[in-house]
Amino acid sequence: MIEEKRALFILFGATGDLAQRKLYPSLFRLYQKGELQEHFAVIGTARRPWSDEHFREVVTEAIASLEPSTKEAQAFASHFYYQAHDVGDAEHYVTLKNLAEKLDSQYQLAGNRLYYLAMAPQFFGTITKHLASEEIVSKNGFNRLVIEKPFGFDYDSAAELNQKIRAVFPEEDIFRIDHYLGKEMVQNISTVRFANPLFERMWSRQYIDNVQITFAEELGVEDRGGYYENSGALKDMVQNHLLQVLSLLAMEPPLNFTAENIRNEKVKVLSAVRLYSPQEVAKNFVRGQYGAGRLGEETFRSYREEDKVAPESNTETFVAGKFLIDNLRWADVPFYVRTGKRLTEKGTRINITFKDLPVDIFKGIESKGQPNVLTIYIQPTEGFSLTMNAKEIGPEYRARPIKLDYRNSAELTVNSPEAYEKLIFDALNGDSTNFTHWDEVAQSWRIVDVIKKAWENETCAKFPNYAARSMGPAAAFELLAREGRHWVWQPEHWYEERDLL
Ligand code: BG6
Repeated sequence: MIEEKRALFILFGATGDLAQRKLYPSLFRLYQKGELQEHFAVIGTARRPWSDEHFREVVTEAIASLEPSTKEAQAFASHFYYQAHDVGDAEHYVTLKNLAEKLDSQYQLAGNRLYYLAMAPQFFGTITKHLASEEIVSKNGFNRLVIEKPFGFDYDSAAELNQKIRAVFPEEDIFRIDHYLGKEMVQNISTVRFANPLFERMWSRQYIDNVQITFAEELGVEDRGGYYENSGALKDMVQNHLLQVLSLLAMEPPLNFTAENIRNEKVKVLSAVRLYSPQEVAKNFVRGQYGAGRLGEETFRSYREEDKVAPESNTETFVAGKFLIDNLRWADVPFYVRTGKRLTEKGTRINITFKDLPVDIFKGIESKGQPNVLTIYIQPTEGFSLTMNAKEIGPEYRARPIKLDYRNSAELTVNSPEAYEKLIFDALNGDSTNFTHWDEVAQSWRIVDVIKKAWENETCAKFPNYAARSMGPAAAFELLAREGRHWVWQPEHWYEERDLL
């Protein structure tokens, strides 16, 4: 039987895009499943002077695609309250406290409070300070802080931010969201690695030649130019999502699957990622920015022409690079990564290429096949494939690669909980396994900071250097080619063959 959760959600940034696209629908799905029933309430705050009625209309609109009945939508929305709020004004926190106490007793919430900060990180410190000084943090029940990225803009700013929030909340009550950790197939990485003796035994430098992680986006920067100009692909994707996935792929097996043991292993492997010198950055990392491009009949404008982007912008919209992990398991195994906007196709996938045989006994025979590759498809399709070699049917001896392919069924995928729903559910349960601990954030910033610094000191790259809807600049291909390798996933070929690119 599902046990209903009791909690008051205090949401800062309630009028924002994230709240409407992700949070309200996720709360509604938890409500439909009975995880939230009668004993929950949401206080939405933001600067705009909305009424409760208007807020409820917005919430109802946000869940419309989930097709609730009118009665169900109304019952759900009736738990939502709005307060116009200036985060720097102490008076507003007094009003907030009174409302929180009223709702706590009205809905019998047992003092459980979840503070969700869906807003720019420069406000995190001010908000948490006031939550303590105005005594909104309750004395009974739990008090958990859920925060969105970006967590700082480099190590120093992240450490300062961390100090401020830790002055109020202990680490175990801080839930730093990395929505990739809520994705089904990211959670599946550990299962594939540790539930299959076949892979568990082969997961090391002895058998693996290289690992490739691609986070390709088809979309451009959309209406987020203002944010993105100050971020760029390195901080937007590599510092968080990509290094998180890398740590799950490379960590040692934890003693068991408790949040603490998993986190310890992730921190250890992140600490083993080599911190590059500026010369090593120049050799191992490539940045790019998209120019105008086309795919078929469709044309795309350049990044510099996007809204709220400087016409001479030097912000990177693409990063490719090679990470090295200096430990016994991974020494010398390249972890190639790439991520970018306006690439050929949306696709998040991991390719693990196993080493070739030490001796070629098929010498002289036309084809000996290709190295084995395990692919983990994270999105948009979810599944795995394994390429292996088999004899081609016929009288002659000829090997050819075949592919064992498994995908989660579309029906299951559509009905499986969305990343945000899982993460909110975990935060309600106090389970921090799929959130990032400060030690992971700190180490990820150290890794990324040296790359960023090297780029800042280097005479600027010649931007734009890749066409919209291509797979990035030529240098990203040379990075692997000079080591005798290539990107396993090359979606551009399909389009090139049809003259669409
Ligand atoms: C966000 C980045 O964290 O992740 C965005 O800020 C990016 O720039 C997004 O588009 C990608 O997420 P997903 O789930 O669509 O792969």
